[in-house]
Amino acid sequence: IHVDWDAVTAEKGGFDHFMLKEIHEQPKAYRDTIRGRVHDNGRQIDLKELNITPVQIQNIRNVHIVACGTAYHAGLVGAKVIEQLVRIPVASDVASEYRYSSPLITPDTLVIVVSQSGETADTLAALREAKAKGAHVLAITNVVGSSIARDADDVLVTLAGPEIAVASTKAYSSQLIAFYLLGMYLAQVRATQTEDDIAQMIMALNALPEQVESMLENSDAMKAYAEQISHHEHLFFIGRGLDYAVAQEGSLKLKEISYIHSEAYAAGELKHGTLALIEEGIPVIALVTQEAVLEKTVSNIKEVKARGADVMAISHEEHIAGLLKSVDQAFAIPKTLPLFTPALSVVPLQLLSYYASLARGNDVDKPRNLAKSVTVE
Ligand code: G6P
Repeated sequence: IHVDWDAVTAEKGGFDHFMLKEIHEQPKAYRDTIRGRVHDNGRQIDLKELNITPVQIQNIRNVHIVACGTAYHAGLVGAKVIEQLVRIPVASDVASEYRYSSPLITPDTLVIVVSQSGETADTLAALREAKAKGAHVLAITNVVGSSIARDADDVLVTLAGPEIAVASTKAYSSQLIAFYLLGMYLAQVRATQTEDDIAQMIMALNALPEQVESMLENSDAMKAYAEQISHHEHLFFIGRGLDYAVAQEGSLKLKEISYIHSEAYAAGELKHGTLALIEEGIPVIALVTQEAVLEKTVSNIKEVKARGADVMAISHEEHIAGLLKSVDQAFAIPKTLPLFTPALSVVPLQLLSYYASLARGNDVDKPRNLAKSVTVE
């Protein structure tokens, strides 16, 4: 894989901020990350760059996913992808916890570390800890020559290009694409999915870039909503399953650059405490894309509506009319396989945090107290 970039190509390119430019670069990042990794017949995944052998893959007993910040959130999605496609147990942890937790590693543990920069101190230390204990370590990173790429046994590069804004957007979503490719590849080797299933997934994967483009053409609705919530100091994100994983990333993004306090909650867990915080007019953003639990999430929406929350739902077009009976407004995202929805549903949340930060007059690309790469513990 040839990676070609320099400071000039990293300029803002007509956008007001790097973050907005990087949000708009996601279709290209998806295409570049997928390219060369799908067999010409459209029915198989080819990860030629990996050293891990089919026999080692057959022997994997469990997977640990370790990362920090936004990369950790990509790992939360990755864990569900691998568990669903490969049916092996996956645990995810933040690197600063993992490295000191005396992790239960055997030679049949695959440890996946995720890092945009490849230089995050805690993630690098976790990688070294896992290697010392005999795990095979695979790094998903955006920087080929980074410390993490050099120390790992295997590297799956995301081809997002340089990311300048502190708030990660295209690196996160490209990490999702890397997890999809990896999950499908492991499933192919272990024959936990049929070739027809893989072919169907490849079609859906290839459609994602255009689907992101269509959402970006439609970003005015998110801009208007962002201006509305920018006057609030607290809000909530809710969702179930993969929607909950994306909700956590949406909440982090909003905190990072708008400084609005928000929490992401597993929708079904609200009634065990957080519901006490719901009061008249508080914004709640509900991700409702996972059909298998759609009705369950709608019940949770009704719980917050009954306490006066102002609810915005993100779902597929076909559910919008129904949802509008229970929510105040809704935003439609294109249809894909449930497993791939995070690669689409994160986009409106990125736009939301961008425009909320802008509305509050913050420095979008350089939020207070935060650094792009954290190379100290
Ligand atoms: C910093 C950045 C985050 C990032 C995290 C992990 O906190 O501000 O955006 O997610 O580090 O960075 P990495 O380069 O390891 O993905």
